[in-house]
This record gives sequence, structure tokens and C-alpha cells, in this order.
Amino acid sequence: MLERIYLALDFPNKTQAENLLKKLPQGLGIKIGLELFLKEGLDFVKKIKAAGYNVFLDLKFHDIPNTVFQAVKQVADSCDLLNVHAIGGIEMLKAAKEASLNTVKPPKLLGVTVLTSINAKTWSLMGGQGTIAEAVEKRALLCHEAGLDGVVASPLEVPLVKAICGEKFLTVVPGIRPKGEVQGDQKRVATPKEAIAKGADYLVIGRPITRASDPARALEAILREIKDDGRN
Ligand code: C5P
Repeated sequence: MLERIYLALDFPNKTQAENLLKKLPQGLGIKIGLELFLKEGLDFVKKIKAAGYNVFLDLKFHDIPNTVFQAVKQVADSCDLLNVHAIGGIEMLKAAKEASLNTVKPPKLLGVTVLTSINAKTWSLMGGQGTIAEAVEKRALLCHEAGLDGVVASPLEVPLVKAICGEKFLTVVPGIRPKGEVQGDQKRVATPKEAIAKGADYLVIGRPITRASDPARALEAILREIKDDGRN
């Protein structure tokens, strides 16, 4: 089950990030996002990968197809999961996929559908058409058509994505909040157990572990919660 969790290693520098990793079991997936990447760069990503972790490089590329193609090429050999914004459009998605194949062991390429921090009110204020679920559905189909391996979506949307894109199409879900945990900026949330029950392939979990007074215990509690689901 540990390999189904990607820890969002959201720290300002590698010293703090590595201090946390020392407290947690190997086998956990590691998600490196903008905060740490902009400080420590690709060398740090490679170091984490060389240490044996599966790495999700969460840079959410969104630009014209050629720029995204070149960006994906720069990082494809350094990670196991990589993402781009689905709203970049079909040509950008296809360019990203093509670039991701340019390495011996291509990473799984994911499209970000609608950020889990967006709720119905924000959606309507930003000019979103229809419901968030409808947009997730359209964007997931676009990613599928472009040959991507899956999407990043809310746990609540996993059944919808699987129904239209197939069981093998990966769903990677942030917005995970164990019962009683503060939601913070996340809006479309579910507990770890709910996310697994809905069929999510990978869970991205940050602050419920990284900000816990005892991160190892917080992780253990999450694992215990989902253990009896029968899918692990
Ligand atoms: O701390 P928390 O559990 O909210 O962390 C979630 C992580 O997942 C953050 O690093 C955030 O950048 C990332 N993420 C997200 N929503 C997406 C894609 C990535 O929250 N759609």
C-alpha cells in the first residue's frame, strides 16, 4: 500500500525535506513540486530517484506545444510520474507525450484536470462552463485521446474518469484529508479510505503528514485506515 502513496515533499529546501524523509519508511513515493524544485533543481530530483524512491515531478507544465515538448524532454528521464495541464489542449498534450517517450524508461504522463483547490463558486467566478465534474470528464477524455497515461483529479471524480477512460487509465488524487484534519486550501476532498474505495490508483498526501507533530505516526494511521479495504 505504501507504494500507492506519494508524499508531497513541499519544503523550502532539501535540508528540511531530507530531515522528514529520514523519519519515514522507504517504499513511499515522493512528489516534488515547484517550491522544492525551484530551490534545489533537477539534481535533487535525481538524487531522490537514485536513493530508490519513485518520483512524481509535479511541475504542471502549461505552454505552447513546442515549449512543453522541450520542457518534458529536459526532465523525462528523472522521474516516474510527470504532469501537464490538460487545458493546454490536445496538441500540447500530444507534444508532451511524444517528448516523454524520448527516454529509456518513460515516465507516466498525467494531465491535471481541475485543481482540487477549486470549488463550484471559484469555478463559476473564473468563467467555468457547466459543472466541475463535466469539465473533468471532458479533460480526461482529451488526455486519453492524446495518449496520456492518466489524470490528476479529485478523489470524488475517480469513478467518472474510470467509467469514460477505462480502468487502466491512471487516477492520481490530491485533496486527501483524513477525518478531523484541516482542509486548508483544498476544496474537493476525501479521506484516504474513501479515495481508495473510489478506485484511485495513487494518493498524493502532503500536509496531513508533513505538518504532523509525528509524521511517521500520521502515515501509519493513514495506512491503517485504508488497510482493510481489500484492494492493497
Ligand atoms: O498538503 P496537501 O495534501 O494539500 O498537498 C497536495 C499536493 O498536491 C500539493 O503539493 C499540491 O501542489 C498538489 N496538487 C494538488 N492538486 C492538483 C495537483 C497537485 O493539490 N490538482
